[in-house]
Amino acid sequence: MALHVMLLYFTTFIIFTIGNRVYVHPFHFFAYNKSICTEMEKQNQSTHEEKVFIPISVETDDSPEQKNLKSINSLETQSLDVKDIPKVTYLTELMKDLGFRYFSVLTNMHKSETVLLSPTNIYATLVSFYLGASKQTSTELQLFLGFTTPSECTSRVDGHKVLSVLKTIDDLLLSKQADIDASRLTCLFTAPGIHLSKTFVQDLVPSSDALYVKAVNFTNPTRAKELINSFFESRIARKSNTILTTDNPSTINLLFASYIHFKVTVKNAFQVNQPQDFWIDSNKKISVPMITITGMFNYKSDDKENLSVIHIPLSKNDFLLLVQPTNGNSLDRIESSLSRDSFPIWLGKMSNRYLNLTLPKLRIESCYNFQEILRNMNVSTLLGENADYSKISDAHLNIGKVINKIHFELDGSRTENEQPQDDSQQNAGLVPLEIKMDRAFLMAVFEGISKALLFFGRVIYPLNAL
Ligand SMILES: *[C@@H]1O[C@H](CO)[C@@H](O)[C@H](O)[C@H]1NC(C)=O
Ligand SMILES: *[C@@H]1O[C@H](CO)[C@@H](O)[C@H](O)[C@H]1NC(C)=O
Ligand SMILES: *[C@@H]1O[C@H](CO)[C@@H](O)[C@H](O)[C@H]1NC(C)=O
Ligand SMILES: *[C@@H]1O[C@H](CO)[C@@H](O)[C@H](O)[C@H]1NC(C)=O
Ligand SMILES: *[C@@H]1O[C@H](CO)[C@@H](O)[C@H](O)[C@H]1NC(C)=O
Ligand SMILES: *[C@@H]1O[C@H](CO)[C@@H](O)[C@H](O)[C@H]1NC(C)=O
Repeated sequence: MALHVMLLYFTTFIIFTIGNRVYVHPFHFFAYNKSICTEMEKQNQSTHEEKVFIPISVETDDSPEQKNLKSINSLETQSLDVKDIPKVTYLTELMKDLGFRYFSVLTNMHKSETVLLSPTNIYATLVSFYLGASKQTSTELQLFLGFTTPSECTSRVDGHKVLSVLKTIDDLLLSKQADIDASRLTCLFTAPGIHLSKTFVQDLVPSSDALYVKAVNFTNPTRAKELINSFFESRIARKSNTILTTDNPSTINLLFASYIHFKVTVKNAFQVNQPQDFWIDSNKKISVPMITITGMFNYKSDDKENLSVIHIPLSKNDFLLLVQPTNGNSLDRIESSLSRDSFPIWLGKMSNRYLNLTLPKLRIESCYNFQEILRNMNVSTLLGENADYSKISDAHLNIGKVINKIHFELDGSRTENEQPQDDSQQNAGLVPLEIKMDRAFLMAVFEGISKALLFFGRVIYPLNAL
């Protein structure tokens, strides 16, 4: 009975009614509930054996069960349940905030370079570590993820619930695409002899299309690097710039890498025969292949913010935003005023215009070490030497590089000779407004149903990858 009363008490505590609508603060969708907390306390008191996962060497051929820890990718979710919208929206805002903080550090570190990040992937990486964190580290990570500092079990975030929403967003993206090819690979490399928590490894399985957990002898850093990179390249089936090296091989015993491949074909866009000029800054231009598309698009030229925004559908729901400075405004100025309000401002009051848009083909690769970003954010302790990841392993973990790598491509679907006669009869007679993206710009890719920001970047060199 006591438990029953307690539950009732807690339920009324977190749920209050406005008129006859029940309002639950979205935070509570992500927190542990009272019954789980009671359960965890019980487990804490009894000494139970944690099942272990022992990674096999990266040099050993995959045995079937070790292969790719995930076999099938369920692509059933097609739409978002109405009741899930508040929690998804809450999380997409947190991801965007973290993405902007990360972007601002990156643009400072890589001045005058192309920068591309995936806020959803950064968030997923951190939540993966959150699942393995204990005590102070867990508290600090929760705060860093954008939630409030927990004061008790029921104000702690349940990482599984966050990952499950991230999975929903991934499924929304992947469920319907003919024009988008997207996948995510996650690898964890540990020193020989490190036993991992089986629960931790299993919890990571749903968050990627493929998860590999492998042992590598870090003692000889050159050899370790070769092994890791060749393993990685064989899994992504392409040549890749070096992704993992160990700075301090004598003590490092865990490396983490996630890789996203995203390729989109813009429907009805065709390739311009000749390479076109693209200004990487006000006095230097390069020649790059471009694509062009003519049709109705949401567009705005904002004379107050001094920027123009074009909205390009990539599929039924997903879309790309291109943002370019106007009226002598600079990209730097737009970047430095990025905030929570930027997208509502950019997306607001757009109008449907008949455009002839020419933009560069994109083939961009980016690779960042989370440890370096965290150092620049003054929070290197999060993944530092003294951080508590006792839910990943009983051994003391000393985490080396944590890599997020992206390969992003955007292209047209036809060559100029295959240009359609006139796609849109109803536009006949209209003269399109010509827009040429021939200077550095910002771009954002959104999953259209959840409004999650999948990619955000600054394009200075449209082709920086092989
Ligand atoms: C508490 O959470 C667990 C798992 O997240 C769920 O299975 C259970 O139904 C929840 N209990 C209550 C009372 O909401
Ligand atoms: C489990 O026990 C430890 C040490 O006794 C304590 O610090 C921790 O907060 C407990 N965890 C939970 C979930 O009760
Ligand atoms: C790792 O490699 C070093 C030499 O490079 C070797 O001495 C050591 O025994 C190896 N460790 C394991 C666990 O294989
Ligand atoms: C936009 O440009 C105009 C004219 O150059 C300037 O007066 C105004 O302050 C600029 N606005 C912003 C937000 O930078
Ligand atoms: C759009 O602009 C491109 C590049 O300037 C040009 O090749 C193409 O013919 C134009 N298309 C239309 C329909 O105006
Ligand atoms: C980190 O600390 C340095 C030195 O205290 C400071 O200059 C810098 O602005 C801080 N960076 C962030 C992102 O807070």
